[in-house]
Amino acid sequence: MPLHRITSVDIAVPDVAAAGAFYAAFGLADEGDGWFATRDGGRQLHLVEAPRRGLRRLGLAAPSPDDLDRIAASLAALDVEVTHERPSDERLVLVEPATGLPIELEVAPSLAVSDVLPPPVVNRPGDAPRRGRPSDGVRRAGPVRPSNLTHLVLGTPDFATTLRVLTDGLGLEISDQLPGVIAFTRAGEAHHTVAVQSAPGPRLHHVAYEVDDADEVGRGASALLTADPGCHVWGMGRHAIGSNLFWYLRDPAGNFVEYTADVDRIDDGDYHPEAWQGHQFLYSWGPPPPAEFLEPSDWHDA
Ligand SMILES: [Fe+2]
Repeated sequence: MPLHRITSVDIAVPDVAAAGAFYAAFGLADEGDGWFATRDGGRQLHLVEAPRRGLRRLGLAAPSPDDLDRIAASLAALDVEVTHERPSDERLVLVEPATGLPIELEVAPSLAVSDVLPPPVVNRPGDAPRRGRPSDGVRRAGPVRPSNLTHLVLGTPDFATTLRVLTDGLGLEISDQLPGVIAFTRAGEAHHTVAVQSAPGPRLHHVAYEVDDADEVGRGASALLTADPGCHVWGMGRHAIGSNLFWYLRDPAGNFVEYTADVDRIDDGDYHPEAWQGHQFLYSWGPPPPAEFLEPSDWHDA
């Protein structure tokens, strides 16, 4: 697969200081100039000031310059213009035609993961190895540190065009889809990296950060809700497509942000998507999704 992960994104917010305080409390490291780092992915979030919230740039990682050359040829076949940035030729820039979204491809290594929390010791009926001490989820202290920015959902007014650019152009693989509604595409082994959703215009539905396990999803969201109960959107639950645990929150600009864990991993050639219908794909368990998750309140704003 020619691309393997998200490098970084630019997210527009009207008030960078207010959004920055939220993302610091979310567990990202404030590196200055609007940049925030995950534990394993480094600088992955860049807040930029703009009147309207949304995604302003998407960065994706390629293993080698040869991959960029192959992608450039595929995009040329789709009549999508690209620029190779010199002198290194290790960066390719295009504008996705249906959304106007700048996409930057650069040669970057795979995610190097470190300091993952030890798996919790779990007691079950008939198999209870944890004796005389509480669960790790009770004993853990300190802020949650998201490992990486793992996926986002991009709304587009031209579903077919955006999906064609991502798949035929960039080489992302479709893991699952509801044709014409939402398609989950992956770069690398995680079930989805960029999901394409039909929308009234270019829109950002949400950005997801991977944490180590279910307790970290719960601990992270609980800490934010203690500070501001109004930032709750939907959770905790487990999605059906992709299987990931989720808890969605709202940043001060209205962008949805997800703590996620335990997403499906896929080996190429070893995956058989199910025929999903209706909203059954949304969740396996959890509270019912609120109306604003299905259609954000500013979705139809001009
Ligand atoms: Fe998600």
